[in-house]
Amino acid sequence: MAEVIWGLATSHVPSIGAAMDRGKADDPAWKALFDGYAPARAWLAEHRPDVAIVVYNDHANGIDLDFVPTFGLGTAERYEVADEGFGRRPVPDVVGDPEFSFHLVESLVDEEFDLTVFQELHVDHGFTVPLSVWTPDPGDSWPCPVIPLLVNVIQYPQPTAARCFALGKALGRAIRSYPKDITVGVLGTGGMSHQLAGARAGFINPDFDALWMEKIETDPDALAGMSREELIRQAGSEGIELIMWLIMRGAMNEQVTRIHSDYFVPASNTAAGIALFDNRLPQRA
Ligand code: DHB
Ligand code: FE
Repeated sequence: MAEVIWGLATSHVPSIGAAMDRGKADDPAWKALFDGYAPARAWLAEHRPDVAIVVYNDHANGIDLDFVPTFGLGTAERYEVADEGFGRRPVPDVVGDPEFSFHLVESLVDEEFDLTVFQELHVDHGFTVPLSVWTPDPGDSWPCPVIPLLVNVIQYPQPTAARCFALGKALGRAIRSYPKDITVGVLGTGGMSHQLAGARAGFINPDFDALWMEKIETDPDALAGMSREELIRQAGSEGIELIMWLIMRGAMNEQVTRIHSDYFVPASNTAAGIALFDNRLPQRA
């Protein structure tokens, strides 16, 4: 049986990747953000899974805006790093795990989550920045094979928070029903509060982010009860990316152990957060 050993929630702001790629992580403007990652990175380096699943959204780089699926799963051997217009990031392409992907997609479709299957996919900052947050110096390859799980958060109507939480729970069951004894890390990405355009451009809501940061551990049901409109009102039009954290959380046990979290404002226009949870606990009676 496969086992989820940890869940990592992290923002995916593209300038975080650009700062790393350009050697600016120690610059005064960036140091506090990267210092906030250090304890999580150290723990993750000691807990390398056999496979990781990155729950993320594409930003019209790998998928044409005319064809945005609500949910999708990659089944490829390899995922190329996308060129988002400034040349591709100097990070490794991603090795997949088709056998595990096909198990997941079959199990999820059987549970009536009719995912779009990506046999080919170029992954953008929504995917590569979280990998860099986890592993700043990957060398020639990321620490393990990685499977992309895609969520539409950029075209209306996005899936509800409740649907994402339910998908996460089905993902957890799919992982546990895999016959191979492998360990799995699940990343929930995007957020925190931000709005990139329109009358509220630059909007950040630290009170809401603090609530989200706490309840993602202790009361994810409360977050899953929020409507799309309420999320956008509270977190901004791009802050709705936070629904992807609920997929990661749903795949984990009811009770998890917080290893580390940190919050930094602003990374570019965005409130950046990281939260790392250990899933290896006996269940509450
Ligand atoms: C920014 C944040 C995002 O989530 C994104 O996808 C692109 C840009 C930003 O804050 O600059
Ligand atoms: Fe984004």
